[in-house]
Amino acid sequence: MVQMVQLADFKAAWEEGREQYLAAVERVGRSGWLILGAEVAEFEAALARAWGLEHAVGVASGLDALEIAFRALGAQPGQRFLTTPLSAFATTLAILRVGGVPVFADVDPSGLLDLDAAEQVARAQGPIDFVVPVHLFGHAGSLSRLEAFCHRHGARLVEDCAQAIGARSEGRPVGSASAACATSFYPTKNLGALGDGGALLTGSCELRDVARQLRDYGQREKYVHARLGLNSRLDELQAALLRSVQLPALARQTERRRALAARYLAGIHHPRLEIPPCPEGSESVWHLFPVLVQRDRERFRQHLLAQGIASAVHYPLLIPAQEAMEAAGQPRLPAEAFPRAQRFAETEVSLPLHPHLSDEDCERVIAACNGWEG
Ligand SMILES: Cc1ncc(COP(=O)(O)O)c(C=O)c1O
Repeated sequence: MVQMVQLADFKAAWEEGREQYLAAVERVGRSGWLILGAEVAEFEAALARAWGLEHAVGVASGLDALEIAFRALGAQPGQRFLTTPLSAFATTLAILRVGGVPVFADVDPSGLLDLDAAEQVARAQGPIDFVVPVHLFGHAGSLSRLEAFCHRHGARLVEDCAQAIGARSEGRPVGSASAACATSFYPTKNLGALGDGGALLTGSCELRDVARQLRDYGQREKYVHARLGLNSRLDELQAALLRSVQLPALARQTERRRALAARYLAGIHHPRLEIPPCPEGSESVWHLFPVLVQRDRERFRQHLLAQGIASAVHYPLLIPAQEAMEAAGQPRLPAEAFPRAQRFAETEVSLPLHPHLSDEDCERVIAACNGWEG
């Protein structure tokens, strides 16, 4: 039987790193220290070094990293957060959790926040306090344009880098335009843990220290609570696994993702399949490989499945149209208000792209795409 081409291959990742994973578990077990110890501190230092930013603060998830970044920057209930309708719901959920009001602008042809549309929204709808762009699909949005936008509007920038660790815009790492940015170690991410995790990165010692308090009940020192915090600690075990296995492999795995994306870009030619462009100046890390399918997306996915190829949709329902918006007291906006984002929602398919995908499987995907008779 032909093997299924999967969207991620966690078993292969385990086999490749098995010895180092087990050694890291042994190290933590023997240390007798399980929460906020040397492993978290060492991973944070290694991550910040690899990323090219001063400080990292390990937390429990990407969602929490965003919330803690907003709170460390002094976000107040009622403040307005400009963001994208096309992302994981977590991006907006973090805004709602600090009592913020999400303000949505449409996306550009790459699927990232369109700053021209954002300009119009800001002009029509009033002042913006925070801008929360998402470097979606592993593409880097233009940092210089984001900075200029925030400067013009007197807004704070918090980049959501959950899908874009290692990506660069105009030569600069994503996240470096923000006072504090956020990322996720959810297992499917480019730097995926063996469970949940996330981090906030910042160039400021002060924001780092506030974030450290916020992740740990707001404690300034043991049993002394300076603020209302969360329990959002990255644990020693995940930190040890990330530092010993996944982080050292990240640069190599990013190169593999890029090589596979280059094969797809060169090999996929079908009149009904469109590959959205990379943003200008982006050195992308290809967290996902999106194609837009003109008409009959489900038939295309069925065709892939019949050839033993898994696929996914990022994302089928725009955030402003989600039912949960009402629960947060926000209007549920019609998808037609965001025509470009809605086109992604209706036509996008993510093809398998992960570091353990073989050249042969990549060619199988290309042949299946080009051979679609839809
Ligand atoms: C763009 C984006 N932001 C935020 C998140 C939330 O990360 P986590 O699942 O670690 O909370 C994710 C992951 O699903 C994501 O893709």
